[in-house]
Amino acid sequence: MFGARCLLRALRSCTSAPCPRHKPSARLSVRDALGARSTNGERVKVQGWIRSVRSQKEVLFLHVNDGSSLESLQVVADSSFDSRELAFGSSVEVQGQLVKSPSKKQNVELKAEKIEIVGNCDAKDSGFVHIHTPIITSNDCEGAGELFQVEPSSKIKVPEENFFNVPAFLTVSGQLHLEVMSGAFTQVFTFGPTFRAENSQSRRHLAEFYMVEAEISFVESLQDLMQVMEGLFKTATMMVLSNCTEDVELCHKFIAPGQKDRLEHMLKNNFLIISYTEAVEILKQASQNFTFTPEWGVDLHTEHEKYLVKHCGNIPVFVINYPLALKPFYMRDNEDGPQHTVAAVDLLVPGVGELFGGSLREERYHFLEQQLARSGLTEAYQWYLDLRRFGSVPHGGFGMGFERYLQCILGIDNIKDVIPFPRFTHSCVL
Ligand code: 4AD
Ligand code: MG
Repeated sequence: MFGARCLLRALRSCTSAPCPRHKPSARLSVRDALGARSTNGERVKVQGWIRSVRSQKEVLFLHVNDGSSLESLQVVADSSFDSRELAFGSSVEVQGQLVKSPSKKQNVELKAEKIEIVGNCDAKDSGFVHIHTPIITSNDCEGAGELFQVEPSSKIKVPEENFFNVPAFLTVSGQLHLEVMSGAFTQVFTFGPTFRAENSQSRRHLAEFYMVEAEISFVESLQDLMQVMEGLFKTATMMVLSNCTEDVELCHKFIAPGQKDRLEHMLKNNFLIISYTEAVEILKQASQNFTFTPEWGVDLHTEHEKYLVKHCGNIPVFVINYPLALKPFYMRDNEDGPQHTVAAVDLLVPGVGELFGGSLREERYHFLEQQLARSGLTEAYQWYLDLRRFGSVPHGGFGMGFERYLQCILGIDNIKDVIPFPRFTHSCVL
């Protein structure tokens, strides 16, 4: 969550320990360092981000990664180097000798002579505040009517029409509650169970799934939002890879051979950006026949999303600016004439299709008023409209499905295989 922010921090230099005099070191990527044939004490310099820190009485172990390899380079340093700033996420430049490692876990390690903190990353002040959004709610954030209603099983105890006096549901998204809280904190997030009564038995839909959602105030462009999304995907993935290496390798080896390289390809490249209009053009020109004919104004189906990712060289791709008519009431109007789009963004990833959904929110009172009227929601969402009357600011956010994220990084074809108790239409075992 905080990783993306950390990586964007202004560069700050500070030397942790004195450096002995010697000839300038050759700069190596982590991949090249790991693959070095000769380790006769060659002096090198490696730059990257700290993935883990293990501090022992007399020695300090760091794992440093620069995105060139899924594996991190072990840096071994004297405990005098230890400092609060050598923490997960901080960027460092390490100079020292590349030597053969005594451990079987790696061939080589870097014996540090100098460690320079390039960018400090203090997770505590990174700014995202964790909000516990409710599971029972009276709103349908996505407006798609895919709601499970909540009432007591026995009507005898509560004779009133509704337990809560109003119809109540299991949440489909914590977004609207995050938007309330983003009036007090500029960066908020939630992570919790989410429920959709979607009548789907597909390989990527569950009736109960986990979603991580973030909301950021004073965001005025999709570009800024996409940077956070890409940062979250890459930082979380690097963290999983360095902290759960054996589990991930087991999945890759037995379930998804080749996934390691595919993942590396995703981490190494900048994610691409295309507009919905461009996406439809690409699909129309595709040599492949689709079950659903692509057409402007019609939603993208899984088959379309998968084709687009392949077309983009299996690099995750952001699709932005969807038709207003396809998206929920809260998305910001692009005011772009007859085609009329909103500032929506979906991130499509290999093997899965849509992994993130997000948007800039409509912060302008009169525009939102019109959207609510269009959706017949004016009365129910008066409180939401009121947020735009009292110190409203441009803001935006997104949600990422956690089980789809696991599918994507582990290379697992069916979402029901990444969760021990999957819930879907006609199935609620245990
Ligand atoms: O695109 P969605 O519907 O977006 C929202 O709910 C926004 N309110 C989020 C926000 O802006 N705060 O859902 C977000 C993500 C999808 O991209 C997908 O990964 C996942 O949630 N998702 C599902 N995962 C499993 N099963 C389902 N039925 C899912 N529906 C959505
Ligand atoms: Mg979506």
